[in-house]
Amino acid sequence: MKILDQTECGSSAVSYGALIERIEILRSTLRWSTQLERAEIERLLRQSNALRDEVMRLSSQERFVAAAAARPDAPARTGGERRQRLLERSFVFEGAFGDNPQLLEALEIAEKAAPTDLPVLIDGESGTGKELMAKVIHSNGARADRPYISVNCGAIPDNLLESELFGHRRGAFTGAAQDRKGKFEAAHGGTIFLDEIGELPLPGQVKLLRVLESREIQRVGSDEPTAVDARIVAATNKNLRRLCDEGRFREDLYYRLSVIHVTLPPLRSRRDEIPLLLEFFGTEAAEALKRRPLRLAPALREFLLGYAYPGNIRELRNLVYRLSCLAGDTAGLEHLPPEVRAAAPAPASAAQGVPETAAAAVATATSLVDAKRAASDEAERAFLERGLRAVGGTVTELARRCDMNRSHLQVLLKKHGIRSRDFRGQQPAPGDTPS
Ligand SMILES: Nc1ncnc2c1ncn2[C@@H]1O[C@H](COP(=O)(O)OP(=O)(O)OP(=O)(O)O)[C@@H](O)[C@H]1O
Ligand SMILES: [Mg+2]
Repeated sequence: MKILDQTECGSSAVSYGALIERIEILRSTLRWSTQLERAEIERLLRQSNALRDEVMRLSSQERFVAAAAARPDAPARTGGERRQRLLERSFVFEGAFGDNPQLLEALEIAEKAAPTDLPVLIDGESGTGKELMAKVIHSNGARADRPYISVNCGAIPDNLLESELFGHRRGAFTGAAQDRKGKFEAAHGGTIFLDEIGELPLPGQVKLLRVLESREIQRVGSDEPTAVDARIVAATNKNLRRLCDEGRFREDLYYRLSVIHVTLPPLRSRRDEIPLLLEFFGTEAAEALKRRPLRLAPALREFLLGYAYPGNIRELRNLVYRLSCLAGDTAGLEHLPPEVRAAAPAPASAAQGVPETAAAAVATATSLVDAKRAASDEAERAFLERGLRAVGGTVTELARRCDMNRSHLQVLLKKHGIRSRDFRGQQPAPGDTPS
């Protein structure tokens, strides 16, 4: 990764990173120069921009070649070794942490895909790091210092979609008081991240497909096409293939977007990394909150190792930040949010009450952690069912009574395949009243 291999007078070789930094210093010195004419400054700035682009291109090309040259037939390496290899090739992790094989594979694919302009589709459950992965792809490519524009396709009202993505001309519709650039134009030269792509309505999908094919956009109210060069990274927590089968997502768009396809693992398939992640986010939270790293009471630690984390890494990270904020030196179960605490494993005295399914899962579990998870999952399910019976299947009411966030409650119900409507009109059993 050095471009000057010879060492002169004991000075070290210059890396691409150091060279880019020097060009940046040169650019800012030029920008504020008082001894040069404006026109001369502009000319030199243009030259240094071209130089920086060339260095960026060479840097990512070298990284690409190094990645491609990594022998696929090499014997399987440990996660730590694979991560180390990425580090040696100056891979930018953007804080992505973990040695899980599926995660490392995703990072290795990202490394190879980053310097190309091929579209990438990232899928994975909520909170598994899709947005983080999009940034990793952007940061490891030649467009790293160009715009990175993120668009949440699920959050734009249908009638504003076209204008939001492609911009509009003044007067194109009521309220369009001025010409306005869309997200694609803003991402010109860089990357556009189309988050929640599965939520894009069908008319929007047609328009997106047209842009992918022609590499041109048309502002709303304008007949003139504008060329755009934006690298597309899309993400979804939906199964796009299934949406295609159901006619809710265009198959041709799916194939265009998923030239490179990366799937991120849910936290439950990397449970062995939970202790490391707790420590990693514990240190991060301590720095952010300017406190000493949190200690976990044994009961809380056990709980956190066995908890199901339906919200994946985001949920784990949020929990650690919450604990670090609320607890003193040592955090205990009482510092957990109520809806999470409700999933705490049943106390030993209630063990006989563990339903058969959980008892069977506990009996067949091959590790203590799995056994606890099985019991904790069952406790969670039992709590939710009892709660829904008590409120006649009204989710909002259950959320209110348990002081839980409604959408989180929905996530939990989905996780267990519980349908609230199945509880409508049911009579609460004695002792069914939650909290
Ligand atoms: N491998 C990882 N290492 C460290 N932090 C991670 C990792 N994966 C995710 N995170 C963190 O978890 C949080 C959620 O990640 P992110 O927003 O990328 O998830 P997402 O898949 O886009 O979620 P959603 O589907 O809900 O939009 C972020 O704070 C992110 O930094
Ligand atoms: Mg996201």
